[in-house]
Amino acid sequence: MKRRAAPPPPLISSYAFQILIFSLTSTLLFVFFLACSLVDPSLPISEIKSELNGSFQQGSAAGSSNFKAAKSIKFPFLPSRHQVNDFFQSSIRRGKRVFSSSKSGPYDFLEPKLDFLPPFATIANVDELIHDTLENDRPTLAGIVGVLDRFISDLRTSNQALASQAYNTLNNRAANPIHPADIRAAYFALASKHLIPLDKALRQSEYPKLREDGSVFMSLAAFREHILADTMKSAFRYSSNPDKLYVGAVVQNCFGGKGLNACKTGMQVVDAKRDIRQVMDAPPDENGIELFCSDPEFAKYCKAGQVRVLYMHETEAIGPATARYLASKLWGGENYYVQVDSHLQFAKGWDELYIKDLHLAKAFPNAILSTYPPGFINFRQEPPYTRGTRICNCHFSEGEGNILRVEMNGRCKENETRPSQMPFAGAGFVFAHSQLLRDVPYDPYLPWCFMGEEIAYSIRAWTSGWSIYAPRLNLIGHHYRPLKLGLPHYWETVNRLFPGMADILMSSPRKRIKNLVGYPMYTKKFVEKECQTELTKARKFDDESLYQDEKFYSVLHNLDLYGLGSNRTLEDYLAFAEINYRTRTCGDLKWCSNGEVE
Ligand SMILES: *[C@@H]1O[C@H](CO)[C@@H](O)[C@H](O)[C@H]1NC(C)=O
Ligand SMILES: *[C@@H]1O[C@H](CO)[C@@H](O)[C@H](O)[C@H]1NC(C)=O
Ligand SMILES: *[C@@H]1O[C@H](CO)[C@@H](O)[C@H](O)[C@H]1NC(C)=O
Repeated sequence: MKRRAAPPPPLISSYAFQILIFSLTSTLLFVFFLACSLVDPSLPISEIKSELNGSFQQGSAAGSSNFKAAKSIKFPFLPSRHQVNDFFQSSIRRGKRVFSSSKSGPYDFLEPKLDFLPPFATIANVDELIHDTLENDRPTLAGIVGVLDRFISDLRTSNQALASQAYNTLNNRAANPIHPADIRAAYFALASKHLIPLDKALRQSEYPKLREDGSVFMSLAAFREHILADTMKSAFRYSSNPDKLYVGAVVQNCFGGKGLNACKTGMQVVDAKRDIRQVMDAPPDENGIELFCSDPEFAKYCKAGQVRVLYMHETEAIGPATARYLASKLWGGENYYVQVDSHLQFAKGWDELYIKDLHLAKAFPNAILSTYPPGFINFRQEPPYTRGTRICNCHFSEGEGNILRVEMNGRCKENETRPSQMPFAGAGFVFAHSQLLRDVPYDPYLPWCFMGEEIAYSIRAWTSGWSIYAPRLNLIGHHYRPLKLGLPHYWETVNRLFPGMADILMSSPRKRIKNLVGYPMYTKKFVEKECQTELTKARKFDDESLYQDEKFYSVLHNLDLYGLGSNRTLEDYLAFAEINYRTRTCGDLKWCSNGEVE
């Protein structure tokens, strides 16, 4: 396949970079990705393997990530209705277990410890742990991960069944159309079933207790990340307090297999001269956690419970926003929260220096540090460090449904004695007191979302009383990825699962975000009407057992649980950030680039 020229953009987040490249190479917009599936811990692994065998393996032709190629292939049918039903039955049975409470025993949020290896390890007594988490106000990390495992496992089942419908559609488009809204509704139904009870239980709980002990929780969302171990090694090696650093990693890997489980490269350049790119077979991904934990220098951190992992198959990858939601659930009450990408280098003393800057910020403790880190080439791991980059720009992105994109603009001044404010946070680096996780909980209903996540988060945080600051120094370097590396992207996986639908799936979270942040046209009435229109085209495929309740077709479902804060108004934010929806313009934000607001 010919590749169109895609000039690498300057400093922007890697996800933004991926999206940009994709929008240049795809005919429509772009989109989406991620998540995956933990196998249900209550079933023996062998049983699950053989169940998966019956479904995913048969879709082998779907292994071609090139949609055009995939289209020309006839698919033998994937799982039968009977097999799919069997799969669903097993989750229904699980729900009927009689739980007993362990409330009387000693309670510690972090006990029992989670296994970081092997992937998809079962959790002992998971039913009881889940029950205590959801019903008894005795949440545990293991119980939370148990809930997430079930969610991901059900998502995997659902993906298989829907994928089989999608391939049926390919073979016989007119007779069996599957609409992207069906895929979205299936996700919304599962999020509502598993994640909402979890979020509600955690909101009402004082656990995990927030520890004021200088500990740092690092959220890492990793999609088939080949330098995850290097990133973690760098974080621990250069930390001033490695014994107080905790990692919560969401590892979305290809574990190998046949059909949709087969591993593929991204679009690799096979002939640079003629500019030919190709997707090729690949071995299973290396497990960065295993590489990290087997290194004698770092093994002790894994043994001490400082590395918590949620494993997913890449087929369940639904985008970075969802991965960050999941990673945030691995928080164990640590003092500070840091969200970063999984392909980074860290500077000496990064944690200590960021904490110092955070405390210097005038709004502390309600202060968030955020930045777009520089690439490896311009990054210094030892002093003198380079000055922090600032996110002082935005624009309405025409090619992306006019969603607001935030952008880097300017650097911190050399003589700044404390950090100064910005209106925007970038998703690739957030550092704050962990109260932020309670005040601005992540929204699980942003599947396939990429662009829009940052403006939504910025506004939610600001209206919840939090102010955003640029750290004065660059203490992390980011691996920016030119296309020629041929690294896999989540939208390629999405298109393998649901051929040709990645672009369309991307647009739904944008509507939710536009309503949330107050785009004048995107009133509740308008958005719901659009969803109703979709509904008239949806639910027309063969397997009616997969039909979802109509309420799950609304992209605004449960938005009230993840809305704006009540500490400051949206109008004040828009004035502060110089955003005008009617003219679709952003101001020049001189106060931001000049660092005028403390
Ligand atoms: C998967 O199915 C094939 C043939 O249908 C069989 O040979 C293989 O043992 C199965 N694998 C598992 C893990 O059950
Ligand atoms: C910092 O330096 C800039 C010029 O680089 C100057 O305009 C500004 O007044 C200085 N601020 C302080 C607080 O010294
Ligand atoms: C926001 O308002 C709530 C309710 O009035 C209050 O409890 C909370 O402390 C405020 N948060 C911030 C960050 O100002």
